[in-house]
Amino acid sequence: MNRGEQVVVQAKSLRKVFGKGAGKVTALDGIDLALNAGEITLLMGPSGSGKSSLISVLGGLQAPDDGSVMVMGDDLWGQSSGKITKFRRKNCGFVFQSVGLFPALTAFEQIVLPLKHMGFDTKTANSQAKAVLAEVDLAERAHSRPNEMSGGENQRVAIARMLAKDPKLIFCDEPTSALDTENGAAVAQLLRQAAKTHNAMVFCVTHDDRLIPFADRILKIEDGQIISDSQKDIT
Ligand SMILES: Nc1ncnc2c1ncn2[C@@H]1O[C@H](COP(=O)(O)OP(=O)(O)O)[C@@H](O)[C@H]1O
Ligand SMILES: [Mg+2]
Repeated sequence: MNRGEQVVVQAKSLRKVFGKGAGKVTALDGIDLALNAGEITLLMGPSGSGKSSLISVLGGLQAPDDGSVMVMGDDLWGQSSGKITKFRRKNCGFVFQSVGLFPALTAFEQIVLPLKHMGFDTKTANSQAKAVLAEVDLAERAHSRPNEMSGGENQRVAIARMLAKDPKLIFCDEPTSALDTENGAAVAQLLRQAAKTHNAMVFCVTHDDRLIPFADRILKIEDGQIISDSQKDIT
């Protein structure tokens, strides 16, 4: 590490176990990890190695059985569930393989409605939605609904919706696996931009080697343990 990044997520001795007795599965087996603002980190590993579990524990979706997660100076899982939800809504953005757009809403509405729900006034929500749609290069599709757009365009709408609240922590689970080369690269570029121009921490689970050139750091996980951690030297 040579660029003086700021640690925004610090996980210590994380453990997550599912089931009991013979059916017991250790999904996370003592994970220590620090993640920096302004960096895009890939998490790669075989199916069942604990990738999605790690995202949900770091992103405030599912509590660990043991260990702690400090986020932006606070003990995430030491807070009440109401506070955790509030923190997550304000600061965390999620991108999943299945995009989760509302079929009846236009691209513009997909972005504006959650912003209003968060308490933004109409004028701010509208201008913010316009800005992020332009950022993902879909300004001219603002009034299209999901069934009128390609998978790649819909994923970009989902990313625009996620970016609209300017989250400082971005978690992605296989964001490009359903996309062709061109859309996959566009999505990777947008995630990189979120790290570099918005100084977000981007943590991305992927099987997709095409994302490697866009990453600052690559972690490998197996059986719930980080087995390698390589910082790419970008000079
Ligand atoms: N809700 C759950 N209930 C029971 N077992 C689970 C649950 N979630 C994950 N697991 C198990 O934990 C292990 C890690 O799962 P997961 O984190 O989803 O891995 P990955 O995302 O790397 O495929 C797997 O063995 C999986 O079957
Ligand atoms: Mg998974």
